[in-house]
Amino acid sequence: MRKITSKSRDIIDRDNKVVCSLTRSYDLVVDRAEGSTIYDVEGNSYIDFAASVAVMNIGYNCKKVREAVSSQLEKMVHCGFSDFYAEIPVRLAEKLCEMTGYDKVFLSNSGTEAVEAAMKLAFWYTRRSSMIAFYRSFHGRTLGALSLSSSKLRHKEHFPSLRVEHSHYAYCYRCPLNLEYPGCGVACVKDIERTIFERELSPKDTAAIAVEPIQGEGGFIVPPPEFHKELRKICDENGVLLIADEIQAGGFRTGKFMAMENFGVRADIVCMSKSIGGGIPLGATLSSEELMSWQPGTHANTFGGNLLAAAGGLATLEFMESSKLGEKAIEKGNYIMKRLNEFKDDYPLIGDVRGIGLMIGAELVEKNKAPAAEKREMVINKALNGGLILLPAGDSVIRFVPPLIISRNEIDKGLEIFEEALKGV
Ligand SMILES: Cc1ncc(COP(=O)(O)O)c(C=O)c1O
Repeated sequence: MRKITSKSRDIIDRDNKVVCSLTRSYDLVVDRAEGSTIYDVEGNSYIDFAASVAVMNIGYNCKKVREAVSSQLEKMVHCGFSDFYAEIPVRLAEKLCEMTGYDKVFLSNSGTEAVEAAMKLAFWYTRRSSMIAFYRSFHGRTLGALSLSSSKLRHKEHFPSLRVEHSHYAYCYRCPLNLEYPGCGVACVKDIERTIFERELSPKDTAAIAVEPIQGEGGFIVPPPEFHKELRKICDENGVLLIADEIQAGGFRTGKFMAMENFGVRADIVCMSKSIGGGIPLGATLSSEELMSWQPGTHANTFGGNLLAAAGGLATLEFMESSKLGEKAIEKGNYIMKRLNEFKDDYPLIGDVRGIGLMIGAELVEKNKAPAAEKREMVINKALNGGLILLPAGDSVIRFVPPLIISRNEIDKGLEIFEEALKGV
């Protein structure tokens, strides 16, 4: 059982005085980390099943990345990459192109910036003014990305001004159309043509459809195989671009470097961030040469191509490939899914287990299938006290997104703590 003293409480109190607007529900004050284990300032250790929100795919304190960043730190931390040339960001962009098959990259510092660049590119290329995204989607918090994200509460508070219509994602466990897969014929995606294009927004005004391959923040929702294919078809038939937001699902978490590869679909523009920096802020927007034909200065930033981020990103991608993290994600993911499905048979609190590779969600439900949000908080808190970090997603989902390098022992120990927490609730 973890111990929390005034050491943690003092930092939390000071934090509350000067830091604003972050949703911290857990009194964990981190100190250091190694592999898949985080240590807090009290000396407690935790197995991390959250990878700092799907960022630390390569695990904490990866030697190769540490060495690459340290050696760049000795030479030069930053140059104005929008004014001068430097080799290391070029190597990073080349590597990203090689791994994805796209031709051009715009480098930035975060997911929301990668999305913002994708939106600007789509508006600029098509000269169309509006977009389509999905209910429960999350694409970031700048005003453009927020327009795409579906939280109406955030919309009411911040007036994002871009026109984005939201459509139904294939949330088969709670079908928004009350249908059943496969009999439904993925009617949800067809609603874009039947309803949105018919009544709300002309395809002639639609620059792009933005989609997460698997919805992350919305609740780890895995669409059926036809969903993205149908979406691609709708885009092609209407001259609309497809933007894949790979920010959470990408980076080999689902076995493939880009999660869209699992669905055999290629987007026109791809947004990546989180795991590709190995913990250092890094965003990337990728596309074809034809689409990314922005005139110089059409879009730019100060820190894109930052030398430390580029060195860290390049070493991260090389490490991901050389250690075959994609294969590991599938093998370990299948194991965790199997165990979670066994738990589902034993504990009615688990209503659904879904995922690909190491992007797995377990949806907690009441007896009547209503989302068990409070019980989810209890499970997460109990797990934390037992030495396991879990994070929520959606209304009542717990996400299982450990570093892809996690060992079988750590998985077993983590699942044991999770089961204890379930029993306790
Ligand atoms: C799918 C997706 N897109 C965009 C973002 C925003 O990324 P950032 O928080 O780096 O701005 C996130 C963050 O969780 C995400 O999961």
